[in-house]
Amino acid sequence: MSKTFNFYDFHPALADFRAEVTDGLRAEPKMLSPKFFYDKAGSELFDAITELTEYYPSRTEIGILERHGEDMARLLGRQCLLLELGSGSSRKIRLLLDALQPRVYMPMDISREHLIGSAEALAADYPELEVHAACADYSAEFEIPYGPAHLPRAAFFPGSSIGNFEPTAAGELLQRVAEHLGDGGRLLIGVDLKKDPLRLQRAYDDAEQVTAAFNLNLLQRINRELDGDFELQQFSHRALYNPQQGRIEMHLVSHVDQTVTVAGERFSFVAGETIHTESSYKYSVAEFQQLANWAGYQAEQVWTDDEQLFSVHCLRVDSRSTGGRQECREAVN
Ligand SMILES: C[S@@+](CC[C@H](N)C(=O)[O-])C[C@H]1O[C@@H](n2cnc3c(N)ncnc32)[C@H](O)[C@@H]1O
Repeated sequence: MSKTFNFYDFHPALADFRAEVTDGLRAEPKMLSPKFFYDKAGSELFDAITELTEYYPSRTEIGILERHGEDMARLLGRQCLLLELGSGSSRKIRLLLDALQPRVYMPMDISREHLIGSAEALAADYPELEVHAACADYSAEFEIPYGPAHLPRAAFFPGSSIGNFEPTAAGELLQRVAEHLGDGGRLLIGVDLKKDPLRLQRAYDDAEQVTAAFNLNLLQRINRELDGDFELQQFSHRALYNPQQGRIEMHLVSHVDQTVTVAGERFSFVAGETIHTESSYKYSVAEFQQLANWAGYQAEQVWTDDEQLFSVHCLRVDSRSTGGRQECREAVN
């Protein structure tokens, strides 16, 4: 085990989960945040998705990190406090640790058990590294629970998870990260690129139906934690590319007219009605750099794979380039 391992628990309260789910099921169209996919089973299903042939983003991003890790480490700066947002299995950061040699690694994730397991395993493998794991929701204001002032800060945000946010909210999240990093801090972020819609669709609707199980697990989680009575066989997974918005959408489609109870409240579905459970925005390199610029960063470098499927950007916080929210929306639309 590393010389320091700490765990900080800011996991969202059950009451917040209940309020967000019931608000989402009351809304028209019905929608739930993708952050709720990640209970223990959801995190394990996501790890299985990353192994699928159709799911090119993980292996492509890993290939870019393997190829350019030394350059990335040089830009981020050694001996830093390294925050990782949505760290999941912490698999990708391992590709950078030897070159980067951070003083402190702070994985942050909403999925508590999965985070503890991954962070403990990493701490055992890197005994010289101080590991401070934080279970928190980065879609709202979040704290950096341990941050000695003398350590320069950098952040790693892989997996194109930024694409799960509407562009304005993505800009706001990048701004919050910039505030935590301070002027001159670096963010290394993985962003999925626009491409052939068929390839995208297959990545989110695989033949083995692992993504379908991942999507449906959300209903199982609601049944278990919020006293719901969703019948899973009455819903199915749908993934489609929305070209106007430049995003993949995942939905759960109701097969029949039905009424479902969650936390004591009844929700009606007509046959064919959907719950929108995830958006995954795709950006060109230029679009993402524009978004980052408005959020207060200068683009320093970008790496892509030979097929131009995925991009990894190194951004430097530069408060002079901070734009407003309206401009942030315009930058990407
Ligand atoms: C798409 S997976 C990516 C996992 C890993 N970073 C990778 O690249 O393979 C998203 C990760 O972010 C976490 N996550 C999703 N929404 C979150 C939120 N609002 N706050 C904190 N973590 C979140 C999930 O638990 C999951 O581990």
